Amino acid sequence: ATGRLDDARGRPLRDLRISVTDRCNFRCSYCMPKAVFDRDYVFLPQSSLLSFEEITRLARLFVAHGVRKIRLTGGEPLLRRHLHELVAMLAALRTPEGEPLDLTLTTNGSLLVREARRLAAAGLTRLTVSLDGLDDAVFRRMNDVDFPVADVLAGIDAALDAGFASVKVNMVVKRGTNEHEIVPMARHFRERHGGRAVLRFIEYMDVGASNGWRMDEVLPSAEVQARLQAHWPLQPLEATAPGETAQRWRYADGQGEIGLISSVTQAFCGDCNRARLSTEGKLYTCLFASSGHDLRALLRGEAGDAASDATLTSVIDALWSRRDDRYSELRASLPPAADAGGGARRRIEMSYIGG
Ligand code: GTP
Ligand code: 5AD
Ligand code: SF4
Ligand code: SF4
Repeated sequence: ATGRLDDARGRPLRDLRISVTDRCNFRCSYCMPKAVFDRDYVFLPQSSLLSFEEITRLARLFVAHGVRKIRLTGGEPLLRRHLHELVAMLAALRTPEGEPLDLTLTTNGSLLVREARRLAAAGLTRLTVSLDGLDDAVFRRMNDVDFPVADVLAGIDAALDAGFASVKVNMVVKRGTNEHEIVPMARHFRERHGGRAVLRFIEYMDVGASNGWRMDEVLPSAEVQARLQAHWPLQPLEATAPGETAQRWRYADGQGEIGLISSVTQAFCGDCNRARLSTEGKLYTCLFASSGHDLRALLRGEAGDAASDATLTSVIDALWSRRDDRYSELRASLPPAADAGGGARRRIEMSYIGG
């Protein structure tokens, strides 16, 4: 089973997002609110995490099924010890055409000053840093652990110095919380890094079950664009790849580009090509899924014989072929009452499944 594998809606499998830890040193209220992720919260024990060898074995099989991009996430992936060793193992994989993968990582940037060179040397091709504001007080409040913004900015500089050609910066926009940071963030990254930093504005999503999401805290991307446009004329850019999350826009004056990720107001399930592997080895075919398929049990033979590559291959095949998920599209058509959160199904947390 090599080459293109389509799901029930004709969508190929291209992007594998691997969560390497469910822990994080931040407590962003939209992701790991302190009230839930407190001192008593039980994180996964080391023994239940996939090992680097297990991750690499699965990744190799996914590449045979069409995966061309691997993103490491968490939690905060740089909290996983020796992560650069996993990066090196994944960087050695090749597509059936003999090409290396697009291998990238989403981080909160807090440990980048220390890790950037090691990650670049290990073969990481790209990097995305989450950053929700430039104002130190706003940022400290949003990460809720009093982490200073200067250290994240230093991390972005360190990544650019370490040889990454560019860095993506992801900002989750919450109305009434950090909307006033939109223009300062754009100005900062334009002026300081030009085309080497691509700032992307993400609509606050109803992911997980603990962030108390409300529609009135979503600032639609169209409004973000209007606010930017008032300062700097923007021109639309073509997507770089099918199924891309962000709509890209360039500054008309040539000072780089921005992205708008509008999963609430303009769902992009139509060509979603992303699979997610959780920290403990469950495969999820949608960010909003309520359950995943336990690949670790097969790998380790937790219920019988350890699976061969052929068995794993046929399981992945069957799971993707059956895939019918399009949560964000359906959400848009749900009556407003269903937006209030809760819902019938218990959704998985973003810190567990990875962004
Ligand atoms: P690039 O290839 O670097 O452009 O990566 P990306 O846009 O695929 O990945 P990134 O992790 O930067 O995604 C940005 C944000 O988009 C995530 O943090 C999520 O908030 C959101 N996102 C990513 N994938 C999905 C998805 O499949 N569904 C939904 N609803 N949101 C997603
Ligand atoms: N809505 C939108 N984006 C989110 N992220 C985490 N939780 C949410 C949410 N509720 C983003 C983070 C980071 C990535 C890991 O996921 O900002 O960029
Ligand atoms: Fe940690 Fe990222 Fe979640 Fe914030 S959004 S709590 S940095 S995993
Ligand atoms: Fe893909 Fe599910 Fe996100 Fe839609 S909601 S884009 S199907 S992960």
